Amino acid sequence: MKGGEVGMDDQEIRKEEAPKKDILMTVESVTREFVRKTEVIRAVDNVTFDIEKGSFNILCGKSGSGKTTLLNMIGAIDLPTKGKITFEGIDLTSITENKRDNLRRKKVGIVFQNTALIAQMTALENVEFALSVAGIKPKNRKIQAITWLDAMNIKERRNHMPAEMSGGEQARVAIGRALAHEPVLLLADEPTSELDTKTSLKVMAMFRNLVDTRGLTIVMTTHDVNIMNIADNVFTMEDGRIVDVRKNKKSG
Ligand SMILES: Nc1ncnc2c1ncn2[C@@H]1O[C@H](COP(=O)(O)OP(=O)(O)O)[C@@H](O)[C@H]1O
Ligand SMILES: [Mg+2]
Repeated sequence: MKGGEVGMDDQEIRKEEAPKKDILMTVESVTREFVRKTEVIRAVDNVTFDIEKGSFNILCGKSGSGKTTLLNMIGAIDLPTKGKITFEGIDLTSITENKRDNLRRKKVGIVFQNTALIAQMTALENVEFALSVAGIKPKNRKIQAITWLDAMNIKERRNHMPAEMSGGEQARVAIGRALAHEPVLLLADEPTSELDTKTSLKVMAMFRNLVDTRGLTIVMTTHDVNIMNIADNVFTMEDGRIVDVRKNKKSG
């Protein structure tokens, strides 16, 4: 213990002795390189950070800074070239692909940058289909899908095809679809990029509420500076590195 050091202020001591927070994920010295022809692109460059359970995290940074690449590794869609990622204590880099797929299907919900709803299915069918992929029993799928579409304020429109819905509605269906199997971790790649400011803020408020009331953990990417304040932690990326970590004070 270093408590005896004279002149160390209270905050320093508290930091030293604070109990370990409940950690959902650890990202340790993670690098991801892509080889294109003769060129090696280091999309993520030696990144280290933890994600606490029940926290709302934003990865921000310019286009090309490595946000999507990092998010894909956090979601067990992709693997690091170097380094280690653990999820609930499991090392994602050392388990079989099968185990990794299973873990992702059950525990992670993903909202891709382009909402990627299936065009030939209604909103409800889209969510039911995702629930079947997540291994939810047939008899529970419909009720769970309706519950989450209701939560996203998609009621009358649940039997509409994606093409018949606005961008904001499609985004909300995609978020409902990602949450309907009740994952512990929600990943969202620029979920608000297609939305107007008002709808963006609504979606963000919804995310905040899911974290606060259900203990969901969220990691999302954005370059919209207007929505950063709603998260607990904002990680700024530049050229594949995390160059700044900002912790927002919890409100209430
Ligand atoms: N599959 C890939 N093959 C080659 N280069 C890639 C691939 N994916 C991403 N990159 C490159 O890695 C860098 C980071 O990309 P990305 O993670 O998509 O950034 P962001 O999401 O912040 O815009 C970019 O230079 C991009 O061109
Ligand atoms: Mg991206």
